[in-house]
Amino acid sequence: MDPFALIIFGITGNLSAIKLLPALYDLEEHGLLPEEVTIIGTARDAISREDFAKLFDNALHQENRHHQHPINPEVAKKLLSRISYMHGDLTDPKFYSKLKTELDQKQNSCPSCRNRIFYLATYPNLYQTIFSNLRATKLNNQDEGWSRLMIEKPIGHDLASAKELDKLLNQYFNEDQIYRLDHYLGKETLQNILTFRFGNCIFEPLINKEFVDHIQVTAAEDFGIGSRGGYYDETGHLKDVGQNHLLQMLAFSTMENPNEFSNVAITQKRIDILNALKADPKKLVLGQYDGYRSELHVKSNSQTNTFFAFRTEISNDRFRGVPIYVRGGKKMKQTATEISIVFKNRPNRLHLNLPSGEEPNVLIYRIQPNEAIVLKVLSKMPGLNTALEPSYMQFCYKHLSSDIFDPYLRLFYDAVSGDQTFFNDAEEIESEWSFIDRLSTGNHTAMPYKPGSWGPKEADKLIKADGREWLEPSMAFCNIR
Ligand code: BG6
Repeated sequence: MDPFALIIFGITGNLSAIKLLPALYDLEEHGLLPEEVTIIGTARDAISREDFAKLFDNALHQENRHHQHPINPEVAKKLLSRISYMHGDLTDPKFYSKLKTELDQKQNSCPSCRNRIFYLATYPNLYQTIFSNLRATKLNNQDEGWSRLMIEKPIGHDLASAKELDKLLNQYFNEDQIYRLDHYLGKETLQNILTFRFGNCIFEPLINKEFVDHIQVTAAEDFGIGSRGGYYDETGHLKDVGQNHLLQMLAFSTMENPNEFSNVAITQKRIDILNALKADPKKLVLGQYDGYRSELHVKSNSQTNTFFAFRTEISNDRFRGVPIYVRGGKKMKQTATEISIVFKNRPNRLHLNLPSGEEPNVLIYRIQPNEAIVLKVLSKMPGLNTALEPSYMQFCYKHLSSDIFDPYLRLFYDAVSGDQTFFNDAEEIESEWSFIDRLSTGNHTAMPYKPGSWGPKEADKLIKADGREWLEPSMAFCNIR
């Protein structure tokens, strides 16, 4: 990695604690941070160095689904020694002069360290003032090194606001400086879909309307919104994860071969899928789990959705007419994120008369847990008679789960390396929003569902109307960790 300075706006917030600090820890542990790195975390409150150290320590040791390996105190100490905390008001121009002085001082001794990444882990209403102050202090210019911006989803809350934000971003940064982050694009298991599909020859000829009956995309979480009620109640599940993570899962599993492994080629193929998605508001179901309105910072009469399910199709030659069912929800029966490609039955299939004989073959990309790519097939049960049993032909990671890099580590690494392949550009974000806006046109009431269920019964009706059923994610494969 080139030497660089990372400036995190909002280092005391939830995103930093859960994602950014653990990712920096992992980079440090893997020896991936250059010796000359400068990290400045900013936030409003004036806290002492000791209090910042406590905050840092809590962030690394708190319960974290995605960061469960032991913390090496020496690594943590080294990382902490490289992070300075700077408090201040992000709307005050003096803050940026102070930031510039600090950066200049740190970087005077290292002219090759004039690369800068600004990470926005703060409220969107501060973006405008941050950008104009960065420009006023020339902190965003690239005269002596590169200058990049990392910005989290959601980018806007609909197509119009996303366009406005993109316009704003482009007033201050060129597209090749902007790293719009959807952490699903950094998931090892999602990226592996590209290799599985296009780096092999076997399955790709089968992934089309001739062989595929339908596709299901599921991202189910068995937990609720925790302490994020303030953000979540304004956003809802469809916009929190549907507009971004689930559409990306769909794009990776259905896009055409990019023919070369480059940012432009891969991004364009994802965009082609997003633009070809049919949006039918009558095929959208929203839900809200019982008890949601009593969650912290949630309005007592909230109509916000914590679940969605929709049916779509891709209007292109490969998939025209193949139904795609997408669902995501909080407080569901189990946590599982996967894409299932369900194959058609062939008329001359042998054993159609036997129990299970009609069970379809299913190709499953399991994003988490039990990360895998598996093919559900029927096999003969050992014995004198012919009886069938469903089995999984499985690709499991032979590596320990701690060897699978966290998406934030990877995306930091990519941003420092100047690789935008697994980031969204403006056009892609706008295509996502265009679909979600069209899909959610009109009034949709969030139907109640019981925590620990698979969502409201209306979601079952949605798929049953086509004579199909939601697949229950199986844990019967790659159960090796
Ligand atoms: C975030 C959403 O972007 O993604 C959360 O804001 C969601 O609500 C999370 O839980 C899911 O990410 P992962 O990596 O845990 O599947």
